[in-house]
Amino acid sequence: MEVLLTSDELAAGIGRLSDQVRREVGGRPLTVVGVLTGSIVLVADLIRRLEGPVTVSMVWASSYRGTATSPGTLELRLDLLPDLTGQEVLLVDDIFDTGRTLAALLAEFRRRGASNVRSLVLLRKTGRAEVEIQPDFVGFDIPDKFVVGYGLDFDGGLRHLPHLAALDDEDIAAARAGQKRCSEQPASPS
Ligand code: IMP
Ligand code: MG
Repeated sequence: MEVLLTSDELAAGIGRLSDQVRREVGGRPLTVVGVLTGSIVLVADLIRRLEGPVTVSMVWASSYRGTATSPGTLELRLDLLPDLTGQEVLLVDDIFDTGRTLAALLAEFRRRGASNVRSLVLLRKTGRAEVEIQPDFVGFDIPDKFVVGYGLDFDGGLRHLPHLAALDDEDIAAARAGQKRCSEQPASPS
């Protein structure tokens, strides 16, 4: 695993992002909507740097299944969303890859009557976008590699790393093999 961003570099990025957001939104109340599960660490750090009135809620989105490192069908769960009518919304996600998650959520929040919807991502992968829109705020542009840590997972693990690391093909193959061995083991007698 190669460290792409240390925890100090990530913290500096969050500081820059929160300053940019407040400069643009001013002192108006902001409804932060994080995308579970990858944005949990980012949301926790960002809201503590955003001065002024903030409320927080979460939606859930997933386009990855198990040990896959390329997106599958996008699944959304929006039942935790508050009424967004007239709200100034900041949609927060860990990474902008194809952009499909952000595009779908932005359209849905606008449909629900938010007065303004901006989007913020910690990371943007180079050369992967499949949609017209771009996030309003981007922490870091990174190469097209599968990354983990600071909330981002590989098959549910590694979210807890305080830094951001890139997995190379060997790391991914080893993780997949480990996974396969586990699922091949006979169930232990009860
Ligand atoms: P998009 O809809 O293709 O932009 O994908 C965005 C979602 O895919 C993010 O919210 C992440 O959950 C996940 N994702 C994309 N790239 C990576 C990665 O390199 N590591 C972990 N998760 C990723
Ligand atoms: Mg996600």
